[in-house]
Amino acid sequence: MGNPAYNGLLTTIVIFGASGDLTRRKLIPSLFNLFRKRRTPKKFLIVGFGGTVFSSDQFRQHLNTGMKEHAGFNFTEEEWSIFAPNLHYRSGNYSDLKDFHSLASHLEGLEGGEANRLFYMALPPSLFPSIIQNLDASRQLIENSGWRRVVLEKPFGTDRASAAELNFQVHRALNENQIYRIDHYLGKETVQNILFTRFANTIFEPIWNRNYIDHVQITVAEKVGVEHRAGFYDGVGVLRDMFQNHLLQLLTLVAMEPPASFNAQHLRNEKVKVLSAIQPMTPEQVSLNTVRAQYKGYREEPEVRGDSTTPTYAALRVYVNNWRWKGVPFYLRSGKHMAEKQSQIIIQFKEPPLAMFPMQTMKPNILVLYLQPDEGVHLRFEAKAPDTVAETRSVDMEFHYAEAFGRTAIPESYERLLLDALQGDASLFTRADEVETAWSLIDPILQTWEVHQTPPLATYRPDSWGPAEAYDLLAHDGRRWLNEEASRMLDK
Ligand code: BG6
Repeated sequence: MGNPAYNGLLTTIVIFGASGDLTRRKLIPSLFNLFRKRRTPKKFLIVGFGGTVFSSDQFRQHLNTGMKEHAGFNFTEEEWSIFAPNLHYRSGNYSDLKDFHSLASHLEGLEGGEANRLFYMALPPSLFPSIIQNLDASRQLIENSGWRRVVLEKPFGTDRASAAELNFQVHRALNENQIYRIDHYLGKETVQNILFTRFANTIFEPIWNRNYIDHVQITVAEKVGVEHRAGFYDGVGVLRDMFQNHLLQLLTLVAMEPPASFNAQHLRNEKVKVLSAIQPMTPEQVSLNTVRAQYKGYREEPEVRGDSTTPTYAALRVYVNNWRWKGVPFYLRSGKHMAEKQSQIIIQFKEPPLAMFPMQTMKPNILVLYLQPDEGVHLRFEAKAPDTVAETRSVDMEFHYAEAFGRTAIPESYERLLLDALQGDASLFTRADEVETAWSLIDPILQTWEVHQTPPLATYRPDSWGPAEAYDLLAHDGRRWLNEEASRMLDK
C-alpha cells in the first residue's frame, strides 16, 4: 500500500520559474535525493514551466549539470537516468492564459487520468497573483479526487499592506489549507530541534521562563556580502530579507507555549500568539531598541546606488509581553559580510543569587543552540577547578550532530519542506495571519528608519562582528553579545 497522502494517484509537481537558479540549486537536488531515499510518491512527474525555451531533453541536461555543481551528495549517472524520465518542460508566458490552457492539456496528456498537483512558485512574488489567476481560469485548481496545492517562495510582500493584498489575491482562488508559504529556516533540522530540545525533554520546561532566564540572544551572521543579488537586495535590506521571516520564526520557536500537539494548526496558533504578544514599536522605541548598519564598501558593490542607505545589518531589542517572558529581552541580530557564518541561539540563565564559594566567579549558565555550522547544543555550567581550594571554572556539556549522527545526517532544508508539502503537512510553513502579524512588527521599524532616518545608519568593517552601536545596545542593559566567546568554547 502506498502513502495515504498520495491517495493512490500520480502526483505532478509543476515548477514555475523552472529555468531559474532555485530550481537547479535546491529544488531538483532535493527532489532527486527524496527519490533516492524512496520518499517521493510512487508515481510522479516534475514539469518545469518557464520563459526560457527548452526541450525536455535540454531541461534534463541543464538540471544534470546543476546537480553536479550544487548537490550536496554524490550520485551515479545510473541513478540519474532512472530519475530523469520523470522530468518534463514546457515554455510559456506567466501572464498569458492561452499558455495555461495548453499547460493544462499537456499535463492531462502526461498524467493520463486523475492526479494530485503541487504548483511550486520559484519566482518573484509579483508574479504569484497572475499565475494563480491563470491556473484558476484554466480550471487547474479544482480539487476532485486529486488535491491541488501551491507553494509560495519568500519574500511574501514587502510590508503588511502588500502581504495582506497578496493573501487576498491568493485566497480568491485557494483555501488557506492549500497554501504553503516557505521559510526555508523552518526546514532546517537544527531549527526543528529547538522544539525537540524544549518539548521532548522535561528538564528545560520548568526553567524556560522569566524566573530563570535572564535574556535570549539570536544571531544569524553571514560571511558573504550581497554578491550577485545586490540589485535585488538594495531595494530590500536586512530587515525584510532576514528578520520578518527567519529571525522572527526563530524567536517564536524559542518563546512559544507548548502546543496541544505537533500539528499545523496547533503549532502555528502558538507562534501567532508569540508574535501578537510583541508590541509594535513607536518611533521613540525604534531609536532606543534598534541598530541599523551598512558594511563599509557596500555602496561600491555593482548595482548598489552610490548613496544607498539600505542596511545590511540590524540588531533589535524585543520584548514578548506575556506571563512567561515579561521583562526578558530578546536580542536579535543579523548581518551580511560578518566575521564568520554563524547562526545560533543563546539562552542566558540568571546568576546564582549568592556567591557561596570564596573564589567563585559569578558566571551565569548558558545554553547554546548552534543552528549552523557545526550544528549542536552546548550547556555551560560551573565546576570546581581541581587542585584549588574553591575556584570555579566554566565547562561545557556538548552535543554535536556530526559526532552523534554522522556528518551526512543533516539533509537540505528544501528536502523536508518539499516532502511535507507533498504529504499535506503545513506545520513548517507560515500561515496568512502569521506573515501579516510579523510584518506588523517590522513595518514601524522600517518606517522610522526610512522616513525619519533614525537611528542614524551606522557602518561596520566587513568581516567584523558588526557596529559598535550594537555592542552599546547590550552594554546599556549591562550585557554583551556572547557568541564570540561561545564560539571559542568550541575550539577548546
Ligand atoms: C535567504 C536570504 O532567505 O536566506 C539571503 O534572502 C540569505 O539573503 C539566506 O543569504 C541565508 O540562508 P542560510 O540557509 O544560508 O542561512
